[in-house]
Amino acid sequence: MSDYRLTTVETVRGAGSWAFTAREGDADREVFLVPCADEPDGEGENSDQPVRAWINRCTHEDQRLHREGVGAVTRGGSVVCPKHGSAFDACEGACDNGEAAGTTLRSIDVEVRGGAVFLTDDDLTYLYEGLPDDDGDDEGPGSSSHLTF
Ligand code: FES
Repeated sequence: MSDYRLTTVETVRGAGSWAFTAREGDADREVFLVPCADEPDGEGENSDQPVRAWINRCTHEDQRLHREGVGAVTRGGSVVCPKHGSAFDACEGACDNGEAAGTTLRSIDVEVRGGAVFLTDDDLTYLYEGLPDDDGDDEGPGSSSHLTF
């Protein structure tokens, strides 16, 4: 069973989100952690599972939700896609609005013990902190993929 210490709950809360790359079969997977709050306004904390882990891809198009240097955009207990603005519940992964309505992010198993977050998903093997160094298909302020020189 996979059981790798990723980071601390405090780090995730402080940064707003925290990403790592893992191996699944022959593929690399980007995963990000976000705090899960009890209140829809993002306040409070969920004592059972204060952090959730999601695959770092919007369900609508191939778009990162957590971006290097930016993190994940969160608002009112949701993670907001930077491309078209669909909001995913940070605790449940579900989306009921915009282009991604009716879909749910793929969850990754993590456990919190003693303030630390552990990867416990049997399908994934931890590779490294952060995301692969590529420009991907990201849209948004940090992207320059549409520019030609
Ligand atoms: S790519 Fe995320 S809502 Fe369209």
